[in-house]
Amino acid sequence: MVRSRWIGGGRILNRKWKIAAISLLVLLGIIIAGYNIYLAYQPPDQPLEKVVILSGKDLPADPEALGLRTSNGDDILAIVGSVTFKDEVKSAKVAPYVRQLATTITVTNEGDSLLVLVNKTIRLPDSYFPKDLISVDKSIISSFGGMQLRTAAADNLIKIFNDAKAKGYNLHLNSSYRSYQTQVVTYNYWVSQVGVVQADRFSARPGHSQHQLGTTVDITSDSVDKKLVAAFGTTPEGKWLANNAYKYGFVLAYPSGYENITGYTYEPWHFRYIGVGNAQKWKNSGLILEEYLKKFGVW
Ligand code: DAL
Ligand code: ZN
Repeated sequence: MVRSRWIGGGRILNRKWKIAAISLLVLLGIIIAGYNIYLAYQPPDQPLEKVVILSGKDLPADPEALGLRTSNGDDILAIVGSVTFKDEVKSAKVAPYVRQLATTITVTNEGDSLLVLVNKTIRLPDSYFPKDLISVDKSIISSFGGMQLRTAAADNLIKIFNDAKAKGYNLHLNSSYRSYQTQVVTYNYWVSQVGVVQADRFSARPGHSQHQLGTTVDITSDSVDKKLVAAFGTTPEGKWLANNAYKYGFVLAYPSGYENITGYTYEPWHFRYIGVGNAQKWKNSGLILEEYLKKFGVW
């Protein structure tokens, strides 16, 4: 079957007529040859510098292992990337460029808002970072160290940990603020481990992670060896958090059974701070966070 598709937003295409002409020729050539073709290119806010083509012959035996497969499971036969891209094509670093397939991406400048919607189609700018990050005190919270959060989120998280401790629960902070660059490393790591299709089910692409907001945490406990596993949701600590975190302004973002709406599998450890008042309203709404922010959030 012959199919063609542009991936991502189109506004960079008029940057260089030369690129457009080359792309068109490639597109025509591959259509004539009877292939499916997917063209991926740099994020809209970065210049397009060079076209790189993977022919059917150059494709690795297992494209998914290198991230060369769309979320539909189709092979990618042509890639438009940067000058450095060609060198990286065979080293599994292609994934960041093959991002947000067949989807229009909105870049939001509302990162400072507690109610900003960040998901698979709405992303933060690469350069966004919260301005009021503080270190989360290791002597109060068990963590891997180096954890940072926005001030209000940190204050309320400490209350959670203290109240949990009074109940005999030993919580552990596994992850907190993650910069855009950290998410690049994190996402690429998972793609290298399980391929892009599976990685996309549990790891956000750079710019698309709530962790970049500085309001989001991954909490686990000693009872599951400080691991991020679904079983955490069945522990007393996990249940207590799921039922009570909203009182401290934190909301479970990726509940069980909602992958079709959130785009992510169940994460009983991933809580996002939206403010105590907002979290109470969220609780009253009966909606999951994604739906609540689509209705009452900003982007
Ligand atoms: N695990 C969540 C989806 C993230 O990477 O932000
Ligand atoms: Zn998380």
